[in-house]
Amino acid sequence: MSNPLSIPQMRPLFGAEEKAELMAYLEEDGFFTEFKKTEAFERMIADYVGARHCIVVNNGTVSLTLAAAALGIGHGDEVIVPNYTMIATPNSVKMLGAVPVFVDVEPETLVMDIALARAAITSRTKAIMLVSANGRAPRVGIDAFETLSRETGIPLIEDAAQSLGSFYDDRHVGRAGLVASLSFSAPKIISTGQGGALFTDDDALATKLRRLKDFGRSSGGTDVHESIGYNFKFTELQACVGLAQMRQLPGRVERKKAIWKRYRDKLEGCQGVRLFDHDIKRCAPWFIDCMADGRDGLVSHLAKAGIGTRTMYPPINAQQAYRVEGYFPVAEEVGRRGLWLPSMVQLTDAQIDDICAYIRLYYDEKH
Ligand SMILES: Cc1ncc(COP(=O)(O)O)c(C=O)c1O
Repeated sequence: MSNPLSIPQMRPLFGAEEKAELMAYLEEDGFFTEFKKTEAFERMIADYVGARHCIVVNNGTVSLTLAAAALGIGHGDEVIVPNYTMIATPNSVKMLGAVPVFVDVEPETLVMDIALARAAITSRTKAIMLVSANGRAPRVGIDAFETLSRETGIPLIEDAAQSLGSFYDDRHVGRAGLVASLSFSAPKIISTGQGGALFTDDDALATKLRRLKDFGRSSGGTDVHESIGYNFKFTELQACVGLAQMRQLPGRVERKKAIWKRYRDKLEGCQGVRLFDHDIKRCAPWFIDCMADGRDGLVSHLAKAGIGTRTMYPPINAQQAYRVEGYFPVAEEVGRRGLWLPSMVQLTDAQIDDICAYIRLYYDEKH
């Protein structure tokens, strides 16, 4: 074991392929704003996830805002969201004046608890935002949410920001919803620095989304506006990077799975730390997430050895930004004990072995 190590929790991976795409594009006389490269990137994502349409935007927060706006969600409407998620999920609808209604998550998957979601429905509920935490489907299956949506007529928006490369049944995560969202921010399985995407089979919704992201017009270069719209467009430079990253996606999916399996094997029987389980044949864990006893002590112990970690999202209802009362035992427990271990695709097996050895050392010393 070398000491100290220098292992970040996460780092994006860009290399020769991205550089070649960018250099080739720069040789062309381009406008840089979204055009053919962006269309090719959208097509590649749509084909990968098996959707008719993909629309890319600046990030995986405004993608959710646009999805909600396209469904007519506005001031005073309620949207059911999990209390364990990145704060972007509720913020995305807050931007429209809508009210995020928080519900707790399943302890095994950290995905919204369907019974609690059902109980939270009111006459003002206009959508359910299902977050596939770390690529996981809920224990009850995503189909259960599909059924809930069909029975109630409340649209299902899937926030699949953490789930590119994860499948359930034969479908890519996000395909049960009317529309789903991805993020290409720096820590994601593929990145364009910033970036997001929506995918759907619904032709009319796709047209609305395209208009909404481009000032409410149906084609660029004209000033005829059929509806209110904004500017959430992409750039060709990001698309060049995205195309190169998408080509690497299958390899990255396999590596993420192998990383998770190695952590699982190396930490087997280690008292004090429990990895969240995955349907690893189908699911590509974006981050290695675990519950750790004495978490904050473990964080310092690993930091001293040069190993980066990140504490998992605290319950959103208790954040200064929201301050909403409620009983959320699972999200609260994650806030106390949840930890992301180093998770980047470039992590080597030897580094994983070192990290696990340091984790074991921490618990051996404690007991
Ligand atoms: C579940 C979830 N939703 C939304 C987002 C926001 O995506 P972006 O950072 O691209 O705006 C993230 C980003 O981490 C996320 O994890």
